[in-house]
Amino acid sequence: MASQTLERAINPYDVSADALYTEDTWREPFTFLRREMPVSWRPESPFGGYWSAATHETIQEIELMPEVFSSSWQRGNITIAESVNEADFPNFIAQDPPIHTAQRKVIAPAFSPGQMIKLEAQVRERAKMLFDALPLGETFDWVEQLAIPQTLGMLCSLFDFPFEEWRDLKRWSDYGSGVSADNLTPEYRAEWMKQMGEMLARFDRELDARKGLPPTDDLLSRMVHSEAMGNLPALERLANIALLIVAGNDTTRNSIAGLAEALHRYPEELDKLHADPTLSANAAQEIIRWQTPVTHMRRTATRDVEVGGQVIREGEKIVMWYISGNRDESVFANAERFDVTRENARRHIGFGHGIHRCVGARLAEVQIAAVIDEIVQRGLRPVMAGKPERLASPFLHGFNTMPVRLEKA
Ligand code: HEM
Repeated sequence: MASQTLERAINPYDVSADALYTEDTWREPFTFLRREMPVSWRPESPFGGYWSAATHETIQEIELMPEVFSSSWQRGNITIAESVNEADFPNFIAQDPPIHTAQRKVIAPAFSPGQMIKLEAQVRERAKMLFDALPLGETFDWVEQLAIPQTLGMLCSLFDFPFEEWRDLKRWSDYGSGVSADNLTPEYRAEWMKQMGEMLARFDRELDARKGLPPTDDLLSRMVHSEAMGNLPALERLANIALLIVAGNDTTRNSIAGLAEALHRYPEELDKLHADPTLSANAAQEIIRWQTPVTHMRRTATRDVEVGGQVIREGEKIVMWYISGNRDESVFANAERFDVTRENARRHIGFGHGIHRCVGARLAEVQIAAVIDEIVQRGLRPVMAGKPERLASPFLHGFNTMPVRLEKA
């Protein structure tokens, strides 16, 4: 244990402020933090005091010590905000080993290479259908008409949920991921409870139906027939479904939305894709790095510990800013640039790292690559046709709307 007398490096910026993301001004504070104070303490914010880890290296270090930097809901939330719900609503992203290990083992096979082949066919079919309906030469909302239905279509496939009901999934997901200082109100909490109640009732019917049938490789069937998740209390079962919906939805949606901005700002990168369509898989990695749809995850220290030259005290929260780690020039040369040929795009930490690394990573990549392939095969160029409306959230980095016009490349 290092000296207990170290002075705290005080972060002059509140990097949890919505304005940094709505106004797209987050780059400068994080460049400062990476250069001057890889780990820093912000004494005050709407979410209380918090530590920030801003470099690729310090984030990985924290992720690789889950016994010291806990994800457990019993110690605190997994985002900078405390939980919206007051009742216990734990899911496996908010658990430490051994519960996390056992529950993740139940879910992970639903994302195996074999399952991905099945899902990929559906994802590609849906992308084609959505692109067929997009107008050429007219402005439309890329988020509403492409990114949202593409992503929710995939979730419907994953849950065997009727595609006509995707708007329900969207509503529940929007509530589930509402991390913003504005959401810490009794009204928001009440609406949250209502939406979760609706979702509970809907999925309970699905789960009960599967319980009476022999096990299959369907995700819900895996859950009800497993030892680690089969006998969970109803709320905890639901919390795990909510996790999959929320984790898979806004994230992939905002990668697809960010793609339009990246291709607009770096038109020569689209030229490269048109010249060599095999670059689409790497471009999918690169857009996750460049956009970083999940800006951060948070951990809570289980004991006093030193990281990045700072002493974190037991019980304090530390926020790992992936959005900053993914711009770390010591890992990614010319990091601000969107570069579809970037050789180490795969080293991005947009999916996290270590035992909680995103279980749906492959599925997200498949969806993004499917969208890129449609753009390339159809010889298109998405052009931003107005100012996008950016999300007011320190947790999800993305867009409410993105006016786009499709032109011939
Ligand atoms: C975990 C990002 C897509 C399901 C995570 C974490 C991040 C993340 C940052 C936490 C990692 C950590 O704490 O170290 C993303 C991004 C996506 C995406 C950027 C899209 C571009 C998906 C999809 C699904 C999914 C499509 C499933 C349908 C999950 C689950 C976890 C998780 C279940 C919890 C894993 C655990 O705790 O072991 N994701 N995700 N994600 N993600 Fe994703």
